[in-house]
Formats: sequence, structure tokens, C-alpha cells
Amino acid sequence: MADQTLTFYRTNAEQYAANKGTPNPRLFSFLDRCKPNGKVLELGTGGGVDAAAIIGRGFDLDATDGSPELAAIAASRIGRPVRTMLFNELEAVGLYDAVYACASLTHTPRSELADVIGSIRRAMTDQGIAWASFKAGGVEGSDALDRYYSYLSPDELITIWAAAGPWQSLEADVWVGGAYDRKPTTWVAITASK
Ligand SMILES: C[S@@+](CC[C@H](N)C(=O)[O-])C[C@H]1O[C@@H](n2cnc3c(N)ncnc32)[C@H](O)[C@@H]1O
Repeated sequence: MADQTLTFYRTNAEQYAANKGTPNPRLFSFLDRCKPNGKVLELGTGGGVDAAAIIGRGFDLDATDGSPELAAIAASRIGRPVRTMLFNELEAVGLYDAVYACASLTHTPRSELADVIGSIRRAMTDQGIAWASFKAGGVEGSDALDRYYSYLSPDELITIWAAAGPWQSLEADVWVGGAYDRKPTTWVAITASK
């Protein structure tokens, strides 16, 4: 993980958290596929808006973020602790029914992504399901806010996730939407069922 990415989220935590008013609309169809009331790990919760919605649906959420400042904001929003944890610090084994990572793993360097996905698969129960969204592109790099993005194509993402399998199913959902930097952005969400 490039340090400048977390520096951005640490330095601009309040402004970043204030930007997201409503949950990710794709969250709810994912939750419909998760074990009811199951244990969910969220990677990169940000200001905790999706976390609040996950809890509101009755799940047992373990929300995490690499920025202690954002973790504190999210904790205040959801009224329970949010752990400060980097993606590459995930060591759980067979613990979670679901893993959710909205626009967060997209900051993981290409060279580290396979290991992180492997640790996500390992952290899940046998029937676990994961959802993670990424900014799509062709060449890795940093944006105008100095945040690193892997900018992988949908095919490259599927290939990297498949290599961390086996999975019962692996799906890619592609759409053009918005982003914090207000630029039209092609997003890819991977849903992986263990
Ligand atoms: C684009 S924001 C998305 C936040 C939230 N999921 C949302 O949809 O609003 C990316 C999040 O990933 C976190 N993050 C970035 N690098 C990280 C790392 N290496 N480990 C853990 N969290 C990280 C940031 O602090 C930030 O909260």
C-alpha cells in the first residue's frame, strides 16, 4: 500500500466522511445473498455509512479501516468500535460469513492484491461470500489527490480473484458512476462465493 493513500484518508478524514450521505445501492442485493444475521467483515469502512446499513439489516458487523481517524468517525456513527486494520493485516481463518469492501481494495497495489484476496478467502467460512468494488482502468497509478489505484480491467480482476480460488462462483458487475473526485468512473464489483 502506497503511504500517500492512507495519508490522504488520515488527513482528510472528516471531509471525506462527510461526502457520503447514503449507502452504496449495490450493498443491499449483496446482503440478500449473505447468511441472514451472519458475521460480516468490512474492509475500508470509511465514514461508516455502509456499516450502519449492514448493522441495520441485522448482521454482526466487524468494521475496519486503515485510517484511525476514519475508524473513529465510523465508530461514532455506528455506536460501536471500529478496528484500525490494514488490508494486509487480515489473519482471521474461517470466521466470516461475508466480506464487504466498497471502493477500498482498489487502493491495494497490484503486486499485493493476490495475497490480500487469498487472506479474504481464508477468513471466510465455507459458504462465505465476498463483494469488492474497484476503479477500472489499464495502468496502475495515482489520482490528482495522490491516492494509488490498481486500475485493473474487469478481465484482470477476474483472473486475479480466480487464482485465489477455488470459488463456487465469481461474477463481475461493471457500471459507470461517480466518485469522490467527481470524475465519471468505471467501476467493477467482484462477487465471489466460496
Ligand atoms: C474510497 S474509500 C471508501 C470508504 C467506504 N468504503 C465508502 O464506500 O465510502 C477507501 C477506504 O479504504 C481505506 N484504506 C485505504 N488503504 C487502506 C489499507 N491499506 N488498509 C485498510 N484500509 C485502507 C481508507 O482509509 C478509506 O476509508
